[in-house]
Amino acid sequence: MKGLVVAANRLPVELSADGRLNPSPGGLASALSSVTAAGTQWVGWAGPEAARPKPFDHGDLRLHPVFLSPDEVDRYYRGFSNAVLWPLFHGRLRRVELNRAWWNSYRVVNRRFASAVAQIAPLGGTVWVHDYHLLLAPAMIREKRPDLRIGLFLHIPFPNAQLFAMLPWRREVIKGMLGADVVGFQVPDDVTNFLAAAKRLVDPRMVGRTLFDGSHSVDVDAFPISVDFTHWDELGEGAASAALANRQELAVESVLLGIDRLDYTKGISQRLRAFGELLDQGLLDTEQCAFVQVAVPSRSDVAAYEDERDEVEQLVDRINVKHRRRNGSVPVRYIDYSLDEVQMAAWFRAADALVVTSLADGMNLVAKEFVAARGDLDGALILSEFAGAAQDLDGALIVNPYDIEDIKQAVLQAIQMPVAERAARLRTMRAAVQHNDVHRWARTFLTRLQSSASTRTDDLVLRPGGGDLATRRDLANRRGLDPKLVETIPS
Ligand code: G6P
Repeated sequence: MKGLVVAANRLPVELSADGRLNPSPGGLASALSSVTAAGTQWVGWAGPEAARPKPFDHGDLRLHPVFLSPDEVDRYYRGFSNAVLWPLFHGRLRRVELNRAWWNSYRVVNRRFASAVAQIAPLGGTVWVHDYHLLLAPAMIREKRPDLRIGLFLHIPFPNAQLFAMLPWRREVIKGMLGADVVGFQVPDDVTNFLAAAKRLVDPRMVGRTLFDGSHSVDVDAFPISVDFTHWDELGEGAASAALANRQELAVESVLLGIDRLDYTKGISQRLRAFGELLDQGLLDTEQCAFVQVAVPSRSDVAAYEDERDEVEQLVDRINVKHRRRNGSVPVRYIDYSLDEVQMAAWFRAADALVVTSLADGMNLVAKEFVAARGDLDGALILSEFAGAAQDLDGALIVNPYDIEDIKQAVLQAIQMPVAERAARLRTMRAAVQHNDVHRWARTFLTRLQSSASTRTDDLVLRPGGGDLATRRDLANRRGLDPKLVETIPS
């Protein structure tokens, strides 16, 4: 799309202290980078090492860095975004860390992002705001630039209304989000939760999934994100010999794989515990199987992440000490740094099964990348029912990650699965990811944004013969008419 402005906490690249550019971590940056067209402008943070860089070009994109002071990194990023919203939205707020200074900083930084967008967006242009760091920005942008069409997409789950209502600033957050013309979520449950929270806390007029807030309508829907299928398919094809080398190095019959940011929402301990118990019980043979866990360091100065790292590392040590092999090697290969896509594809191809046991997860793009990279049709996917991806990937072995026995059963089933069944399941999953790839996701969202921004409050009419509210477009659709003619429908 021409003239699009993307606003996300991170730019697609991070600036290191010595001025080098590295790809930003996480699924959001990689998904978005693969769909932004030439001429797109991107407003975001260039990472903790960046000073005050000026706008610069990166490939076809124009990047506009937003400066965050060390205090703001602490309060807005580590504090409010990652120690309040992240755990709250994933249903895992451990302590009540509802710090008011963090909230104030969150407001200030959201306003800074909104001002940056307002300054660069072309007249009547389109802005796409991303994720939980910027939930106030849509209303702030609208206030400054009512001419813009504004979309908001949340990459993480939206919690149920009861949980969300704990937040002292719950109304401001909902109001901020309602500044958008389209609010997109990963799965229908998130939509239901958001509508219930909006109703309970700000009670806007609602027609189905369209809310009317002040002078504009807000279209709320699920848009499940995906991956660049062709890209991962090709990476998989190109990784055949590297995958073989990985297998030869491990020298075992069965290889299980996990690739995650080291985050307490990912259920890394749960899957390791399941693996450890299978070894303890002799249901897996330490000489003949390996678990490769890639745990990419993330938000390491947030307390809950330090605790998670300690727990995971202790578990790995315990399993490896107890089940050391005769030749001195160990069953859990723990990789605690980030891999590039080529290396990831080589591990995807080397594995008998990818194990995804998130306790809560907006989508989990790693699961879809694995499916796309397995053109050889020879791998199984174990997938948490609490990852959004479970709703798109018929063919995965779905598990409840809180139930260690369930994970153990799935691991055994994956390892023993006949080749023909692996292929059939992968074929179904690959067709789903190929059909709904990241390009379709972006197109669907932006097309909806183009059409729904035209529904305004004055388009709200009474349903003929009843007191119900309806939109002109809705009524017109039902009667097969042009919306402009709806006024002339006699009630
Ligand atoms: C998740 C979030 C993204 C975030 C990424 C990496 O995917 O949804 O918004 O960018 O994690 O986390 P980080 O804190 O390093 O940006």
